Amino acid sequence: MGLSFGAKGCLLLLTACLLAVCEARTIVVGGSEGWHYGLNYTDWAIQNSPFYFKDKLVFKYNPPRSASTVYSVYLLPNLYSYITCDFSDAKLLADPKQGGGRGFVVELNQWRPHYFASNGGNGRHCNDGLMKFFAVPWPRV
Ligand SMILES: *[C@@H]1O[C@H](CO)[C@@H](O)[C@H](O)[C@H]1NC(C)=O
Repeated sequence: MGLSFGAKGCLLLLTACLLAVCEARTIVVGGSEGWHYGLNYTDWAIQNSPFYFKDKLVFKYNPPRSASTVYSVYLLPNLYSYITCDFSDAKLLADPKQGGGRGFVVELNQWRPHYFASNGGNGRHCNDGLMKFFAVPWPRV
């Protein structure tokens, strides 16, 4: 007994995805606006959801021109530190100079929410709720 056409198709698709033919997307955070103070990235993340496992997020920003434009990308360890903007256990992913050119690429390669924030402007970037968002990777199939 063979598998039905539908089941075979499904199996093929699954195999293709496992072989990464089913490609991960590359998404520029903030679209043409890039990563800067003034855009609501929570809104942006909602509009660009769902995110999938292995998708790549690209953070693009200019090197600092003044104290308030010192942008960075931190990965916060959990929801609580994300909400309270507590950077004490945060991991610096990209410093203020790493957003130039093609930008800084972060792959969603962990099966958990990825909490991102900029720690600049004397804490305002995160505390004002603008330069922070989280992405929850979903399985692609
Ligand atoms: C950003 O957008 C979210 C979702 O629409 C909203 O809940 C939040 O209040 C906004 N934040 C700011 C600082 O405007």
